[in-house]
Amino acid sequence: SKKKIAVLVGSLRKESVNRKLANEVIRLAPDSLELEIIEIGQLAHYNEDLDANPPAEWVEFRKKIGEADGYLFFTPEYNRSTSGVMKNALDVGSRPYGQNKWAGKPGAIVSSSMSPLGGSVANHALRQPMVFLNIYMMQQPEAYIGNSWELFDEQNNLKNESTKEFLKNWVNAFAKWVYKF
Ligand code: FNR
Repeated sequence: SKKKIAVLVGSLRKESVNRKLANEVIRLAPDSLELEIIEIGQLAHYNEDLDANPPAEWVEFRKKIGEADGYLFFTPEYNRSTSGVMKNALDVGSRPYGQNKWAGKPGAIVSSSMSPLGGSVANHALRQPMVFLNIYMMQQPEAYIGNSWELFDEQNNLKNESTKEFLKNWVNAFAKWVYKF
């Protein structure tokens, strides 16, 4: 049976290249995976006080995270880390205390940046909370996508075949990883 993969995008801007890459990976993924972007921009800042009567969007988000068989994270690099919205989503999904929805599932990260470094620092910063959340992260192949603003044309098509080939191999490797669990 197909594995349900929740896809999170850490940039909220309309023209986000991370979102374009997420959509490309969704197109390139093998049939064994069913991928869906789960929105995170609407989630209120995590505040423990709210957990007595959590906002509806937290409840819905936690349900979707709990139902997923795995996770893909597309992160920008903001000031040499992941974005605040991405970290907030991790925190919301990890609570209330004792009900971490992420635990025991496989995951993987794509980072991308307009710089040639491809958001590598954000990629690794995001790996740190995954250890405590107990998401089993794919280690290889890594995905650091540099010069991201040059990748897509006006119709949001990837301009170069080599990036498409790379992403296809990467998501195929992730599918194999998912089926190990
Ligand atoms: C950036 N950017 C950036 N890039 C980078 O390589 N390292 C960094 O530390 C930062 N820091 C940073 C901070 C903030 C607040 C912003 C808004 C941007 C640039 C970033 O790579 C670029 O905006 C990407 O295009 C963001 O990804 P999306 O929005 O295209 O998905």
